[in-house]
Amino acid sequence: MGQLLEDRFGRVATDLRVSLTDRCNLRCTYCMPAEGLDWLPTDQTLDDDEVVRLITIGVRLLGIDEVRFTGGEPLIRRGLVDIVRRTHDLGGVETSLTTNGLGLHRTAKALAAVGLDRVNVSLDTVRPDSFAQITRRDRLDDVVAGLAAAKDAGLGPVKVNAVLLRGINDDQAPELLRWCLEHGYELRFIEQMPLDAQHGWHRDAMVTAKEILAALEAEFVLTPAAEPRGSAPAELFTVDGGPGTVGVIASVTRPFCGDCDRVRLTADGQVRNCLFAREESDLRAALRGGASDEELADRWVTAMRGKRAGHGIDDPTFLQPDRPMSAIGG
Ligand SMILES: C[S@@+](CC[C@H](N)C(=O)[O-])C[C@H]1O[C@@H](n2cnc3c(N)ncnc32)[C@H](O)[C@@H]1O
Repeated sequence: MGQLLEDRFGRVATDLRVSLTDRCNLRCTYCMPAEGLDWLPTDQTLDDDEVVRLITIGVRLLGIDEVRFTGGEPLIRRGLVDIVRRTHDLGGVETSLTTNGLGLHRTAKALAAVGLDRVNVSLDTVRPDSFAQITRRDRLDDVVAGLAAAKDAGLGPVKVNAVLLRGINDDQAPELLRWCLEHGYELRFIEQMPLDAQHGWHRDAMVTAKEILAALEAEFVLTPAAEPRGSAPAELFTVDGGPGTVGVIASVTRPFCGDCDRVRLTADGQVRNCLFAREESDLRAALRGGASDEELADRWVTAMRGKRAGHGIDDPTFLQPDRPMSAIGG
């Protein structure tokens, strides 16, 4: 290994989030409009060999030891299983997937067979009517089947990511936790962030970690988990004495930027040093222009130097990034 992806504040990125597509087969209201978005043209999207080349540079030259595939919806990327296999075969790298779970019941075994370690499945509610209201699709059964298949395939611990929305599912936190505990899934609530395509996020409307914990504590005994949190975004709690746990990712009200070890690669080959970055570094143009692995690594290292100390959501000067979450890779 040559260099590290270190920023000016001494943080070193070792966890790479790779977006494999900006497209999605759900239309979650807090993420994108009903009609979808202007998707990236295919020729601007990295092909499988290009994605694997950049991942290889990250792992072999820059100290990346964890790769999470995301999107958009990564399960709709045709080459997913092969990309995971080639990433796993690099050796010494943990691989995971963040997915909405649609179709996971068909692919879970194949993904486990090529070396995928874990999955996070997004599920905001276990009520069919709320699911259809939030995602604008009637597909709750598919997600539930995908979760079960992931567990059977050994892609655990299977985590569930949930966003609570005021007036829609904000009264469902204990119900969702009970369901996850019964099924052996680790639930994480994520505070809603200003990353929606419609720019409809309002700080006063978002459901805070404090509210989520209060709702859970009305029905469960939560004890802060003993193990150190490290760079993990979730604050973990043991539920009713364990072994079940629940996590809260308070990106807005209790930011954890000081411990951030993440860097992102978009489906069109742009390095982003933060979810909320306003600048990107174009590795696709360099790669297609004939740059060597070392030159691409140097560009990547330079991109990390510009990482800001924090996301700045509370700054009066905060500006939401141009790309929505679905196009960055959540
Ligand atoms: C953008 S999705 C991409 C991966 C995949 N399609 C999925 O559903 O997990 C990743 C995660 O981001 C979450 N998400 C999307 N928009 C968000 C927002 N504005 N604030 C917080 N989380 C958000 C989703 O709920 C999901 O858990």
